[in-house]
Amino acid sequence: MRSVVIISDLQLPFEDRRALKNVLGFIKEYQPDEVIQVGDLMDYPQPSRWSKDTRAEFEGSVFRDSEYGVKNFVKPLRDVYDGPVKVIEGNHDSRPREYLEKYAPALAESKAFHLETLLKFDEYNIEIIRGFYDIATDWVVTHGHLGLPLSQLAGRSAMRAANKIGKSVIQGHTHRLGVSAETYGYQGKMYTRWGVEVGNLMDIRKATYLKSGSANWQQGFAIIHIDGSRVYPELIPVQKDGSFMASGKLYGGKGSKGNNK
Ligand SMILES: [Fe+2]
Ligand SMILES: [Fe+2]
Repeated sequence: MRSVVIISDLQLPFEDRRALKNVLGFIKEYQPDEVIQVGDLMDYPQPSRWSKDTRAEFEGSVFRDSEYGVKNFVKPLRDVYDGPVKVIEGNHDSRPREYLEKYAPALAESKAFHLETLLKFDEYNIEIIRGFYDIATDWVVTHGHLGLPLSQLAGRSAMRAANKIGKSVIQGHTHRLGVSAETYGYQGKMYTRWGVEVGNLMDIRKATYLKSGSANWQQGFAIIHIDGSRVYPELIPVQKDGSFMASGKLYGGKGSKGNNK
């Protein structure tokens, strides 16, 4: 049996610090077989328009934010966990790279604005994945910006992706936490395909681009238990105060050790 912790959409520097601290505390104790950050690890806010000044500001903020990302995610994760870590590139993570490819194609070859360079993945032994990662037989992990119309119902966007791909899908991107399933076949020749959305770990109040200050999003993460061809997705909802129950134990919140302010 293999257990993989899957977290998504931290959107640093807009992460929920309490939730992240508790998740790192959980990873430290649980020591999963693998950790996957399934995209939008970084937010890299888009400049409002492509004038010379906003471009300079964008470049500056990319380096500032990346430094913040190493300090507040990459290094703290490696301080508590030595095992395999994969990061799947999300649509926010790829903004600097795409910017450079568009505005300075000659420099783009240097990979200076690739996520793995900006966040020092080599130094911290983290693998970057673009696109899809086959986590188990007929199960694939991907960020979720697949060009399919998103559903407002948690789990349904992943289910649509699963039906398109022909495999069960675990994804982020929607910032929703939920599981959906569809079963096909007849008379004992049945099979079920799953769509799993692992929620987000960002602090919605920090995202000023969300003008309403609200969205149909749920904080959480997932533990995927894999036993050969059997896959058991376990969703972990994160409460308003950043606490959650995992593996029968409370992390964060009142009364737990390592309580956060
Ligand atoms: Fe996101
Ligand atoms: Fe995304």
